[in-house]
Amino acid sequence: MQSISMMSVTEAVDQAVAALDFDRLHKAYWEQNEFLVIKQFLPRSFVESTFVPQANELKPRINRNYIPGHKKGGSVSYYTVQEQAPLFLDLYRSSAYRSFLNRLVQANLLLCPDDDPHSCALYYYTEAGDHIGYHYDTSYYKGARYTILMGMVDRSTHCKLVCDLFKDDPAKETQHLELITEPGDMVIFNGDKLWHAVTPLAEGEERVALTMEYVTNPEMGRFQRFYSNLKDSFAYFGLKAVFKRAFSGPRTS
Ligand SMILES: [Fe+2]
Repeated sequence: MQSISMMSVTEAVDQAVAALDFDRLHKAYWEQNEFLVIKQFLPRSFVESTFVPQANELKPRINRNYIPGHKKGGSVSYYTVQEQAPLFLDLYRSSAYRSFLNRLVQANLLLCPDDDPHSCALYYYTEAGDHIGYHYDTSYYKGARYTILMGMVDRSTHCKLVCDLFKDDPAKETQHLELITEPGDMVIFNGDKLWHAVTPLAEGEERVALTMEYVTNPEMGRFQRFYSNLKDSFAYFGLKAVFKRAFSGPRTS
């Protein structure tokens, strides 16, 4: 068998999907209100040799943002990933991975429109205090929005993904989880259902995560598009990056 370190991203993802215990994961995803963690979806050694060098090369392109009381951190948008680190798109666009997701969430998931900077992006927690407060990954699209996070770098004891499962379900008791996302660990959830945050990074630590977004309907109303662009400009990628693509890219409605 071919060594994992010699494989392309597509080959490694194909092998990872084929090795999953689908029935167990499907059951867990639905029992947890559309939330699932897959530890070591890709082996740490593969992520560290293939993706992490790319994530490090993108550091000069990080857009840092600070919203007092809610968010502090860095992001690299889909536009920059497309230009400078297309290897991440081999995972985002993998047909084996996408058909696994479709079966898991029981929907036909589509790639986001090309003018969505979150489609396949990177979040960097590199300075003390970097964090994001509790939120839903609200869908501004006409359909549902699903978020997938994959750990890239996790040199932190404080910076964790914290989640309150069933927060949106008054009939169920909320279940609090605190997760570390090691390189290769994957988290999959319906953005409108998971109340989540990332706790503050301590001095000298670092956490980097890849985020991928899929939707069931890529259309968005005009007001929703404007609000979504504003939020992305201030909270994530910067005015220039977001509005440059928004005014020149394809429109969905
Ligand atoms: Fe989020």
